[in-house]
Amino acid sequence: MCGIVAYIGKKNAKDLLIDGLRSLEYRGYDSSGIAVLHNSKIELVKSAGKIARLEEKILSLKAPALVTNSVSSNFNSHVAEKINLALETSTCGIGHTRWATHGIANDTNAHPHQDTEANIALVHNGIIKNYLSLKQELEAEGIQFRTETDTEVITHLFAKQRAGKADLDALRAVMNRLEGSYAVVILVKDQNKLLVAKNQSPLVIGIGEEENYVASDSSTVLQYTNKVLKLKDQQLAEITETKIILEDLYGNEAKIEVHHLVQNTSIQEKGPYKHFLVKEIHEQPAVTSLMLDQCLANATKPITGFEQLDVDFKQINRIVFVACGSAYHAALIGKYLIELWARVPVDVEVASEYASKQVIVGANDLVVGISQSGETADTLAAINNAKNAGAQIMAITNKSDSAIYDLTSPNNYVTPAGIEVSVASTKAFVSQVLALYFLTIKIAEDRTEIDLTEIKQGLRSLPLIIDQVIERAEDYKKQFIKYSNYRDFLFLSRGINYPIALEGALKLKELSYIHATGYPSGEMKHGPIAILDQSVPVLTIAIDGKSKFEHSLYEKTLSNAEEARARKSPSLVIACDDNQDVTGLFDEVIRIPNIDQFLSPIIATIPLQFLAYYIAEELGKDVDQPRNLAKSVTVE
Ligand code: AGP
Repeated sequence: MCGIVAYIGKKNAKDLLIDGLRSLEYRGYDSSGIAVLHNSKIELVKSAGKIARLEEKILSLKAPALVTNSVSSNFNSHVAEKINLALETSTCGIGHTRWATHGIANDTNAHPHQDTEANIALVHNGIIKNYLSLKQELEAEGIQFRTETDTEVITHLFAKQRAGKADLDALRAVMNRLEGSYAVVILVKDQNKLLVAKNQSPLVIGIGEEENYVASDSSTVLQYTNKVLKLKDQQLAEITETKIILEDLYGNEAKIEVHHLVQNTSIQEKGPYKHFLVKEIHEQPAVTSLMLDQCLANATKPITGFEQLDVDFKQINRIVFVACGSAYHAALIGKYLIELWARVPVDVEVASEYASKQVIVGANDLVVGISQSGETADTLAAINNAKNAGAQIMAITNKSDSAIYDLTSPNNYVTPAGIEVSVASTKAFVSQVLALYFLTIKIAEDRTEIDLTEIKQGLRSLPLIIDQVIERAEDYKKQFIKYSNYRDFLFLSRGINYPIALEGALKLKELSYIHATGYPSGEMKHGPIAILDQSVPVLTIAIDGKSKFEHSLYEKTLSNAEEARARKSPSLVIACDDNQDVTGLFDEVIRIPNIDQFLSPIIATIPLQFLAYYIAEELGKDVDQPRNLAKSVTVE
């Protein structure tokens, strides 16, 4: 995890580093820091908390009076002046925004880290698996560690290796000692250059005119240059304003392959919304509409959007979805749909588990990773595991400029949800679910004679219905905020909406920090029912259906909700407008427009997004950046 950024050129480094860190904050926001080179010395500022706190600390260096007490810096005026001068004039520096893995989020553990002599400063994204043994070894040599991070071993190892070696050779020697993942940028005291190394964590170099940028993510450098070099695993480089020396672990010069990416200068704005989360909830009609126009413009014609795939679905014996969090919930819906309509057996695996399993797959198994960011380390590792075991691989992702996209190309479907800023997924989740309806239709059309015209027509109505649900937001708010003070919640449903119970619980947990769990309704009586009393609200998703099968699922769901009510749990239900069975049975009936059960997951999700949002708002939580989380989880 974590985001790293670096600059060398003629512009003010501090401003570019702070801008870069802001665009990388989705990778972690526990603490941040920058280091710049000035007069052959390294000056450094770091702070626990979000980047705004780092900015306040930087401001405190020149204008102490403007700064709140909570951020007041510990620098004496002489030191403050010196650091301030360096920050205002330096044209070479490195920055880091952290998601804590080793050591709590405080100023000390914040990056950049330095060696004992303060000759270098270093930022790192990744996890050094063998850091404990390396630390013991270095401590035995008399080195005193100042932080609890795994990163600090890299600084001391590098400082040690530099004695008598060229910097790239020293860095190579360090890489040979490290086990795990790393993207590293190093600043060296008396040299106007950056050193970088990469293994399993992303790192790109943005190539400019007499300037170069380094970042965890190409979108960070794209605002300055569209020429991007994506480092490969086990590569290292020395970067000056005008030159890049790229090498591999064996000391061979590596080929510099420059990608000309599409420049995306769009800055994400909240517009009239208080939070990105609400903005993104409101974007769902447009996103689904765009997807339908791209793939299902005509319900009587075959689905489009999968032409680039090099997969013969007729030959596929089994599909395995691998994903994390919300994407995992989307995958569970995919399983339901594909087994129902395309009649292919589907497994759904938590990516972090699948990544280290002795998987049993063959050439006729298709392993599909689902990932909004396309960078989730667990999902990437799971897909790689399947690939190495001989499976065909594919991805559904929201980012075409991502590791998962590159790994699975040409077998990918890119959801056009646009950038999702809020950490809790809303529009990206909905786009993943819709993509899985599309994939199901594609497989069914390739393998079966089943007529899915009615389903396709139903899908085409989704954007309008989502819009109608969003219009009810104020009514939902009144219904939901009454439940803000409960500490535990249970979410129940069956069949195709069981994954939505999981997703509703995850959203509530993430945004409000209220403990919430989703269960298949029928499973509740096998244990979870023991926790029920008047202090645990139970929210049931109960959508009736036209067929006997759908109706029986619905009836069973209601009867499980009754069991919860009998234990005095406050009861909420998500039900369609015309469904009068639920009136009087529940304390709170949350209405959604009438919708077929098989098309209901996307619609039933929307009120649950509002539930989590309104409760989080009521409790004063940080809606867009909940504590302990990060938008892109790039460590296993
Ligand atoms: C959802 O709200 C999450 N923040 C999280 O569970 C997310 O879905 C998960 O980390 C997977 O991310 P990805 O889709 O980028 O792989």
